[in-house]
Amino acid sequence: CGIVGYIGSRPATPILLSGLARLEYRGYDSAGIAVYDGEKIEICKAKGRLQNLRERLEGHPCEGTMGIGHTRWATHGEPSDINSHPHTDMKGEIAIIHNGIIENYLQLKEWLLEQGCRFVSETDTEVIVHLLNHYYEGDILKTIYKVLPLLRGSFALGILCKNEPDALYCTRKDSPLVVGATDHGSFMASDIPAILEYSRDVYLMDDLDVAVLRRDGIQFYNAFADPIEKEVMHIDWTIKTAEKGGYEHFMLKEIHEQPTALRDTLLPLINHQEGEAPSLREDMMPLGADEVRKIEHISILACGTASHAGLIGKAMIEKYARIPVDVDIGSEYRYRDPIVQPNTLFIVISQSGETADTIAALRDAQQKGATVLAITNVVGSTISREADKVIYTWAGPEIAVASTKAYISQLMVLYVLMLDFCLKRGKMDAAQVSGILGELLELPQKAQLILDQKDAVQKFAHQFFDREHAFYLGRGVDYSLAMEASLKLKEISYVHSEAYAAGELKHGTIALIEEGTLVVALATQDALFEKMLSNITEVKVRGAKVLALVNDGNHQIDNEVDYVWYLPPVSNMLAPMLAIIPMQLLAYYISLEKGCDIDKPRNLAKSVTVE
Ligand code: G6P
Repeated sequence: CGIVGYIGSRPATPILLSGLARLEYRGYDSAGIAVYDGEKIEICKAKGRLQNLRERLEGHPCEGTMGIGHTRWATHGEPSDINSHPHTDMKGEIAIIHNGIIENYLQLKEWLLEQGCRFVSETDTEVIVHLLNHYYEGDILKTIYKVLPLLRGSFALGILCKNEPDALYCTRKDSPLVVGATDHGSFMASDIPAILEYSRDVYLMDDLDVAVLRRDGIQFYNAFADPIEKEVMHIDWTIKTAEKGGYEHFMLKEIHEQPTALRDTLLPLINHQEGEAPSLREDMMPLGADEVRKIEHISILACGTASHAGLIGKAMIEKYARIPVDVDIGSEYRYRDPIVQPNTLFIVISQSGETADTIAALRDAQQKGATVLAITNVVGSTISREADKVIYTWAGPEIAVASTKAYISQLMVLYVLMLDFCLKRGKMDAAQVSGILGELLELPQKAQLILDQKDAVQKFAHQFFDREHAFYLGRGVDYSLAMEASLKLKEISYVHSEAYAAGELKHGTIALIEEGTLVVALATQDALFEKMLSNITEVKVRGAKVLALVNDGNHQIDNEVDYVWYLPPVSNMLAPMLAIIPMQLLAYYISLEKGCDIDKPRNLAKSVTVE
């Protein structure tokens, strides 16, 4: 979601609308504003793109010189007028906008219902405004400090209070928030582009800082409510660069958002308190113990990158939960007259939730009487509405056509499902699951370590970008990974690339290897390492230039190949989740060297809504 707020001497509505227009790339399923003229907080909101809000405002002007605005990317509650922000308390005296996810909102909602609160939306956000109202005793700043410790999850909040006609409040935790001032007023926004038009001098809010915005200046407080000074940051980015968070392309921005996407996807699915062993949250698992025990077979349906995530899911579920799994691409499934065995669980995976081939496969499966569980990134999408059960990835809007953070979040959900299946079918005990959850919790930090080494990838890309062909080899999950790595390269850089099961190479494709052919060997699985080594030697002696990706500390390959990249320490089981990151970076930098249109590769669309 995107949020923006203004207080000053000018009419707020046009300023909020132009800020929201700059933020539409962050989410666009609904938008709304709240404007205060000192007498009444006027709210106007509309489902759909910002244009719908603009049209609605024509018949319902909101006048005043302070206000807050929001453009939504649905998390809890489908896109609708009611679920759009701002949200208010029952008396309409406090209005808030929120970007992020409140993990414990169900618990808070239950308590608030007991206190007599009435909820009008299905959002997690609404609990915050009712909490503020509940604790309010005339000092909104104090109230904010009372409510903050009750919230678990991520948030950037803008708060407007009827008793405070001269101040706007904002705070954050794990969601971005910037504040800026000009001669005519003060601004807040989730992202720099929304305020760049008015001010290039901004303040970056730290977690749990609170800012009080006034017409003539801003006061900051730290997490302990002590007044603090903040350093100004001067922004010399263009608006276009600012939209990309300072990165040259959305794809690079999204690659860098992967630690956050991993965390945001995992945290709502688990219990983890300081000092306690993490466990799965039963209320967030899509299937009950009986349902899981009954499964005899799983069919995964997806297209493109999502189907590659499905292949890793298959390997994990088969290996650990011991349930047979098939993976079908959507466009093939329905035309091959599939046999649906009794007690089959269907899992459809789709970032957008709108891919026509996947929707068709889902409907086909449902017609045959199957239960369909969807893994999708878009609340309110066709797939999320039509599936019997849904489990969301929380990657946020993905704009680059080549999928990165959505893929890694899909993997995260598949690993969690695998653990849930293992637990419910007695293949792992709670302690084992907890140990693996502990490792999953460490992944964001390890992913960051890889991102910190991107310069090495760029250097490599600079040397090899002019190759016409590339081959990605792997065995087992590394082969599934090779398919995704190869797709990334071909879709954005137009280098012809193939993924091959390393052992199958000698049955044909090895004929294509000649002096200087680029081969990327993925060798993260100990049990298959020696076999991989022989396959690597086979291409090496035919003149290939080989780059190998191996586990931390594995130096057996150093003398056999031309280049080696090492993963941070990670178990074989979770290696695929890290190994894809250098591969995404490699595709990105090769495409950059070639001067391709990285975010919008030729002939491709982000979401393919035709069969
Ligand atoms: C398109 C995109 C791919 C994506 C595929 C499936 O082909 O270009 O990046 O993987 O659709 O999309 P979905 O939204 O269903 O995950």
